[in-house]
Amino acid sequence: MKYKPENFDLNSNKIIPVDEFIEKILYHREFGYYTKKNPFGKKGDFITAPTISNLFSEIITIWIISCWEKFGKPESFNFVELGPGDGSFTKVLINTIKNFPELNESINIFLYEKSDFLKKTQISKIRNSKVKWISNFKLIKKGPVIFFGNEFFDAVPIKQFTFFKKDLFEKYYIINNKTRLYETYRRASIKDSTEIKSFKTLKNLKFIEYPKKGFYELDKIIEKISKLNGGIMLIDYGYLDIINKSTLQAVMKNKKINIKKLHKNLGKTDITYLINFNLLKEYFLKKKLKVKKIVSQKFFLEKMGIIQRAKILEKNMTQKQKDYMFLTLMRLLHRDLMGSLFKVIFAFKSKKNNFLGFE
Ligand SMILES: C[S@@+](CC[C@H](N)C(=O)[O-])C[C@H]1O[C@@H](n2cnc3c(N)ncnc32)[C@H](O)[C@@H]1O
Repeated sequence: MKYKPENFDLNSNKIIPVDEFIEKILYHREFGYYTKKNPFGKKGDFITAPTISNLFSEIITIWIISCWEKFGKPESFNFVELGPGDGSFTKVLINTIKNFPELNESINIFLYEKSDFLKKTQISKIRNSKVKWISNFKLIKKGPVIFFGNEFFDAVPIKQFTFFKKDLFEKYYIINNKTRLYETYRRASIKDSTEIKSFKTLKNLKFIEYPKKGFYELDKIIEKISKLNGGIMLIDYGYLDIINKSTLQAVMKNKKINIKKLHKNLGKTDITYLINFNLLKEYFLKKKLKVKKIVSQKFFLEKMGIIQRAKILEKNMTQKQKDYMFLTLMRLLHRDLMGSLFKVIFAFKSKKNNFLGFE
């Protein structure tokens, strides 16, 4: 009953742009995918790096500590996790920085989460007075500020467009008589069309994915960074070469399902897309941030010393624990698994340029 199109306000023959369609399925107040259950982990629908291995979160924390040092160990230092999921990363962050008393004193930790259900999951996992949940960034007044999002950007719905001759058309979905999901196109608004045509990265593409909502989120973040100094690091499944077709994918119980059957699984599947990292870079540069070289997850984690850390930890482990740790490490680093598919981008405002992990 819960998964009927009408529960998502997707009644028969309603025509809806791709991003609004995804928004309803993922974040509908009552029935949305992210608003009613915890999708993470082996028993959930997908596994993310912080839910695979604490080593990932430890290494990112070490990187955050290195940023604090680069900014001259300021008395007030802010960290914001974007889309903290089940809270796995923050839990490790808090435990790790306890070993750095000076930073522990100066850091303010903020969690930016849209789903009330996940917020409750995070609160019960974290329970720490240092951590504040925020829905905007007004509380962050004195900088610098580092934003971090693992698989955050791909959870913010995108728009899709295509050119018919020289004119840009936007893709819409329509659920026809509750039985089939159709695509249809309408002429793009002049505003969207002008914006899209202003990006070099999108020139000469026939099919365009445009993260309008994602850029709206970034604008609020960039405004803070520009005022207070700091940066934003995003890790996500994405690409650097041209793809020129839809990258939308629906995932249920760790398996991809056919997008055309989506209407049969409304609210039961996650929907993501691949991040166009060159477009992200162009956006940050347009907004006057500096951007480090985009690197793979493997490159970043290895540069930050993940293998050396694992070798230290294994000394106090049983064989079974060692085997498990190296298996999870392989998932994070192997080229055919997350190692190359996931990329890392860091955009920042600072006089310094020598942030670790990218060269
Ligand atoms: C794919 S999950 C990743 C979770 C976690 N970072 C991890 O790696 O396990 C995406 C997260 O971003 C949150 N999210 C998506 N859009 C958001 C928005 N506009 N504002 C705040 N949180 C958002 C989701 O609710 C969820 O917690």
